[in-house]
Amino acid sequence: MRIIGTGSALPKKTVTNDMLATFLDTSDEWIQTRTGIKSRHVISDENIEDLGAEAVRKALEMSGLQVSDIDMFIVSNVVSEYVTPGMSCIIAEKTGLSCPMLDINCACPGFIYALDIAETYYKAGKIRTAIIACVEEPTRMASWEDRSTCVLFGDGAGAVVLAEGDNIKGTKLHSEPSPDKLWQRRTLVDTPYITKAEFDVPLQMKGREVFKFAVTECTRGVDELLKDTGIPKEKVDWFMVHQANRRIIDAIISYMGQPAAKFPVNITDHGNSSSASCPILLDECNRKGMFKEGDTIVFSSFGAGLLSGAAVVEW
Ligand code: UT7
Repeated sequence: MRIIGTGSALPKKTVTNDMLATFLDTSDEWIQTRTGIKSRHVISDENIEDLGAEAVRKALEMSGLQVSDIDMFIVSNVVSEYVTPGMSCIIAEKTGLSCPMLDINCACPGFIYALDIAETYYKAGKIRTAIIACVEEPTRMASWEDRSTCVLFGDGAGAVVLAEGDNIKGTKLHSEPSPDKLWQRRTLVDTPYITKAEFDVPLQMKGREVFKFAVTECTRGVDELLKDTGIPKEKVDWFMVHQANRRIIDAIISYMGQPAAKFPVNITDHGNSSSASCPILLDECNRKGMFKEGDTIVFSSFGAGLLSGAAVVEW
């Protein structure tokens, strides 16, 4: 397939590190030094599904296609106020999409997993077009009393429209199932038969272990993908790395031995928006006119699961 349109939407409220320091035992200095984040967009009176719909509309407008042209809609979303229906159906109702649709919960690498699914359906001859929307509000998952998690996240939505083409040159997906490293749980409806204890737990993260996984798997995944596709890393024009921590991105830059200018960064004023991170970054770079036809773009992301993924796309 080929990406022919991108779109994104962010909550209007910006929360700076100094704002967090008014109610948390933290500081702008700690957050910036350890993560590279200065501020993030946080859901306030918006609904995340409206941001998802806005991102889809913008991507469609850029693509020149109509909703009736779309054969498949894939949404990546970890959490929303709805348990059912899936976020895809909620956004579809707002945008007029009425093709087959599905939701995936692959956490931060969700965009790459969705690309892989769309490309696989395309190669099987089942679809000619697709929309992927990554729609996330991780600020609703962490406890705002837990300085080790809530300072990291920001909300938002990113979308792409895919059409016929031979531009997804490869994808590489990886898992190391270890739910204890990054998780959140919620209580379900009680029944007369429930005897086990159930309880809500806000987002928990073994930060250092996730950090290590991120650097190891991003570099390994990208290396293997480039080897499989026969593309030397010097030929890659852009590395779109999940915006989770500036130090993780710097470690990947150093390992890859490629100029830092090839690694666009927006974590400074976005924080980590889970699977929306890569498509939001893509859309921002695209709208700045940074890409030219034929550019090679590598995506790489990691997160809860633990899952990771990489993709190489020709622009
Ligand atoms: O989307 C994918 C998911 N997540 C990630 O990719 C996150 C990966 N991990 C990380 O980015 C980093 O591990 C963190 C940013 C989460 C933490 O940085 P760190 O350098 O690994 O710090 P640490 O967890 O080892 O904590 C060091 C100290 C601790 O204090 P003590 O025990 O040394 O006294 C923490 O309590 O920093 C403390 N700390 C804070 N201090 C001020 C933790 N959070 C904060 C904070 N402000 N916000």
